[in-house]
Amino acid sequence: MKAEPFEPEIIAFCCEYCSYAAADLAGSMRLSYPVNVKIVKVPCTGRFDIIHGLKALEAGADGVFAFGCLEGNCHFERGNLRARKRMKYLSGLLDECGIGGGRVGMYNMSSAMGKQFADAASEVTEKVRALGPNPAKRRPGGRQGVHAPPSVPETPQRHEAKKTDRGE
Ligand code: FES
Repeated sequence: MKAEPFEPEIIAFCCEYCSYAAADLAGSMRLSYPVNVKIVKVPCTGRFDIIHGLKALEAGADGVFAFGCLEGNCHFERGNLRARKRMKYLSGLLDECGIGGGRVGMYNMSSAMGKQFADAASEVTEKVRALGPNPAKRRPGGRQGVHAPPSVPETPQRHEAKKTDRGE
């Protein structure tokens, strides 16, 4: 049986003033981009915090990217510069943990750059596909890949203790 190709889940935090509008424009222009990219609209990429990226990765995303206004055009002055700094920090953190800093990043564009949005969405999908599945995603049963505690082997004493707990 042939294995299914890996299809990454990518979260894109898009600023509503520029890249969200650019994504909209890409749709109006009938440009296709990978369905792997799921958009989260934010008022400004400055709203993005490292914890949002970590939570998304823990919840199952294989990649997290911020798409903000062009530098110098942020409606909140320095929001996109802050987001870039946070993404850089997060990338370093993921590299240190062995998860892969390339899973996160930042793009800048204006609302008129529909084609650039579609191209960037394809680019991040290929980039994350090449990295493979996120090893830190929460697995069914609640355990995480990289920090899973060592499993405790079942011993006759533990088995008996469990029976006692259940009142058997
Ligand atoms: Fe678009 Fe700040 S308003 S990145």
